[in-house]
Amino acid sequence: MIEQRIKASIRDIHDFPKPGIIFKDITPILKDAQLCEGILDAFVEQLKGTEIDVVAGVESRGFLFGLSLACRLGVPFVPVRKAGKLPYAIKQKVYELEYGQATIELHTDAFEPGARVLIHDDLLATGGTVTAASELIAEMGGTVVGFSFVVGLGFLNGKEKIEPISENIVVLAGY
Ligand code: PRP
Ligand code: MG
Repeated sequence: MIEQRIKASIRDIHDFPKPGIIFKDITPILKDAQLCEGILDAFVEQLKGTEIDVVAGVESRGFLFGLSLACRLGVPFVPVRKAGKLPYAIKQKVYELEYGQATIELHTDAFEPGARVLIHDDLLATGGTVTAASELIAEMGGTVVGFSFVVGLGFLNGKEKIEPISENIVVLAGY
């Protein structure tokens, strides 16, 4: 099963990036081409029945599977980027972190109003990042039709936070 294969590959790094945190390192997954194909297969399978016009991947680790998933689905990929990285006209969203603020941006021509957008990221923790992405997408006239994550950290209650946006939440490996 894909969940076991993902969990067997992920590497726990203790006290990174700060003491007390156990970081889920997904880089070993990326070295296993068969597992990467399996992850994409599982996303496509679990997203069957969801009508998706565009995949929005969140910088930076959301780019890893986001573009491949969009290609598999036969739809455009758009990058949700951190501040100051996108060269064309942008719309931005400032959101609160545990300490301080962060800004994400999308190109104004990322999608047409009314587009059905799947938000993809590698990992769902508190859900703060994809909530901000959802708000930005909604402000630009898009409809968030679901979320996809390789990993979800259930104890941080991210699912509960994003369910009001869309209950269509794909998490391949949950902790
Ligand atoms: C991590 C992870 C998700 C986000 C999840 O990204 O890749 O994007 O945090 O956290 P949340 O659900 O609490 O918002 P990070 O900001 O570390 O940046 P990176 O992807 O560029 O490594
Ligand atoms: Mg990230």
